[in-house]
Amino acid sequence: MRDFVFENKTKIYFGKEQMCHLHEEVARFGKRVLMVYGGGSIKRTGLYDKVMDELQKAGMEVFELSGVEPNPHHTTVNKGAAICKKEGIDVLLAVGGGSTIDATKGIAAAAKYEGDDVWDLVTQKAAVTETLPIITVLTLSATGSEMDGGCVISNVETNEKYGYFAPDNNPDVSFLDPTNTFTVSPYQTASGSADIMSHIFDVAYFSKNQSMDMLLRIQEEVLKTVVKYAPVAVNKPDDYEARANLMWASSWALNNFLYDGFFQATVCHSMEHELSAFYDITHGHGLAILTPRWLSYILNEETAPFICRFGMNVMDVDMSLTMMEGAKAAIKALETFFFETLGLKSRLSDLGIDDKNFALMAKKACGPNGVLHGFTDLTPADVEKIYRMCL
Ligand code: NZQ
Ligand code: ZN
Repeated sequence: MRDFVFENKTKIYFGKEQMCHLHEEVARFGKRVLMVYGGGSIKRTGLYDKVMDELQKAGMEVFELSGVEPNPHHTTVNKGAAICKKEGIDVLLAVGGGSTIDATKGIAAAAKYEGDDVWDLVTQKAAVTETLPIITVLTLSATGSEMDGGCVISNVETNEKYGYFAPDNNPDVSFLDPTNTFTVSPYQTASGSADIMSHIFDVAYFSKNQSMDMLLRIQEEVLKTVVKYAPVAVNKPDDYEARANLMWASSWALNNFLYDGFFQATVCHSMEHELSAFYDITHGHGLAILTPRWLSYILNEETAPFICRFGMNVMDVDMSLTMMEGAKAAIKALETFFFETLGLKSRLSDLGIDDKNFALMAKKACGPNGVLHGFTDLTPADVEKIYRMCL
């Protein structure tokens, strides 16, 4: 186990009657707020009006940036940062899913950066040194962005999508009201659930240094929570208990607690970010397609015990099987869960993707050193083979 420092500054208001505290929280940070949101779901659901009421109650001067894209574009972030600089914005308010929150984090950092392009920060040409305060109202359970320092931004001109982590980018306050996710479509609910699971697999559970038993056990319980409640939410979107469990699972899957002390890899995420950079697909769906194929590819005598443990402890795989049989049954059970129970399409070709860019994507996924470190280290040739298994 590695030494670690655990810190998470985000204050959470969880539940259906908590939005009434938004006016107090936002007023703590100043008078001028930039409200950031996506393509309009918050107007259709009535959340926009509720938020506006709170901002008026706080006497805020409100500026708006709408139209944040799923897989948010760096140009949209630059637009937001320019508003902040021109209008002297004191605090940012993100109302939406991971894309809106990530764009807001990019704006918070770019607003304090002397350059005019957030891409410098995303590509780490310049460091994030200071940020504006951020409040979020989460509307989709998936990314954990509401309680982490991650920020993932796309450059559609160059087919690049990169993430960076900066503790300063953690939201100061996040409002998690499960009823705000009742309107999330079955497809986005399924994809978001795959994303939550992948954060646990990728960052800790299927990584190299699995030495903290307490955390492994909690990771399994969070995975089981998603396996139990995602199908409920897909079939009954207004089931409060299901939505609440998914929401809190999303935040805890990536807020440092579950993986501090582990060797942190991002294998499936690195492979998926290339898919959404080139094809603008839904992040969680890409992960659902990749994960079982990746596990099959790396299955060997060394990895089988861990994959088998997942099958037996999380997916109800028959305990009497051998390690290798159990691991194969675990992978099969995960496929059944994603592609039958949650109804996600199982192949990249179903999303209109062919092998044209696989070699380039595989090379980029492995970064400048040509290795994707993880449970098993992968080369570009390995990654290309995994993409082909997903076709
Ligand atoms: O744009 P609107 O109109 O709001 O519609 C969105 C969007 O079309 C819709 N939606 C959101 N909440 C809704 C709703 N529709 C109805 N009712 C609601 N309550 O859902 C669609 C997808 O939204 P998006 O924000 O793109 O989804 P998600 O939360 O899955 O975010 C994905 C982005 O986060 C990044 C991904 O790469 C991707 O760019 N990630 C961020 C991470 C982080 N910050 O730590 C880690 C993750 O691994 C991930 O990479
Ligand atoms: Zn993710």
